[in-house]
Amino acid sequence: MSNVDIKREMSIYRDTVENYLEGVFPENSDDTTVRAARYSLMVGGKRIRPVLMLMISDMLCADREVILPFAAALEMIHTYSLIHDDLPCMDNDDLRRGMPTCHVRYGEATALLAGDLLLNSAFEIILEQAINYGAPAALAGRFIAKSAGGTGMIGGQSLDISSYSGTVTLDRLEEIQRKKTGALLTAAILTPFFTSEKHNANQDLCVALTEYASHLGLSFQIKDDILDVESSPEVLGKSIGKDAATDKATFVTVYGLDGSKNRLSQEFDSAYASIRTIESLGFDTQILTSFTDYLKGRTN
Ligand code: IPE
Ligand code: IPE
Ligand code: MG
Ligand code: MG
Ligand code: MG
Repeated sequence: MSNVDIKREMSIYRDTVENYLEGVFPENSDDTTVRAARYSLMVGGKRIRPVLMLMISDMLCADREVILPFAAALEMIHTYSLIHDDLPCMDNDDLRRGMPTCHVRYGEATALLAGDLLLNSAFEIILEQAINYGAPAALAGRFIAKSAGGTGMIGGQSLDISSYSGTVTLDRLEEIQRKKTGALLTAAILTPFFTSEKHNANQDLCVALTEYASHLGLSFQIKDDILDVESSPEVLGKSIGKDAATDKATFVTVYGLDGSKNRLSQEFDSAYASIRTIESLGFDTQILTSFTDYLKGRTN
């Protein structure tokens, strides 16, 4: 057991990100799309991706001024993916982050535009960083674009909408999960690496961080699938039972709860092994270990 008070550490990181996000879209804008984007962005959420990015950045002793806008941009991309994921043409969900989904509150057309606005605004921020900090920031930006794109999150969502529990192989299921969820988590972990002039030539570190990201990404989505069965809307802030009802290809619908829990525990063991490798390279991994403990035990 480490001595880190992870809830407190996370809330400090979360406040830092939310302070930044607060300034992205003005309150009470005349434009409905701006109000809808702000609503979905500021309505809550665990902020796992930006928090993780800031944690890794601190572990690498990187510059907060460089990384914070990237962290905010990643959360904006994630929020856009949730707005679109909830639309009637996709998962058709009414509840998100404990509140009505964007399209329930603002209508489908505005929700679609709000997602587009979040994505474009995120890349405005990322390009500003590339202008200010040069090639390492541009490389990080390109990695985020790829992670969110056709071989990353969008690619995973595309497979997700055409896959059903009875027809997927284990390989395909893993591919869906790694792309739709793992890719943005990997971007959270590798952005500080790419922007760190001090460490970005360290290949061993790159491999260890990538392995950690891979296990964390898969375990995050397996846990999401389990919570869809075991949690409640009050705790989770979103509807439950939808995956089984719509015959989605998830770990639980394909391998059952016990099979999913076994796999989850294996993935976490591998994530901890990757953390030990990162530690052996000379980095202080206490917070990362506690954060991983938190993700393992999370209930929402
Ligand atoms: C939900 O992500 C969608 C997945 C990729 C599983 P989160 O569980 O991080 O949702 P928020 O951001 O806390 O609302
Ligand atoms: C969505 O996966 C992943 C995204 C890219 C948004 P889910 O459809 O399982 O996410 P939830 O359960 O609605 O948050
Ligand atoms: Mg979905
Ligand atoms: Mg969904
Ligand atoms: Mg889900």
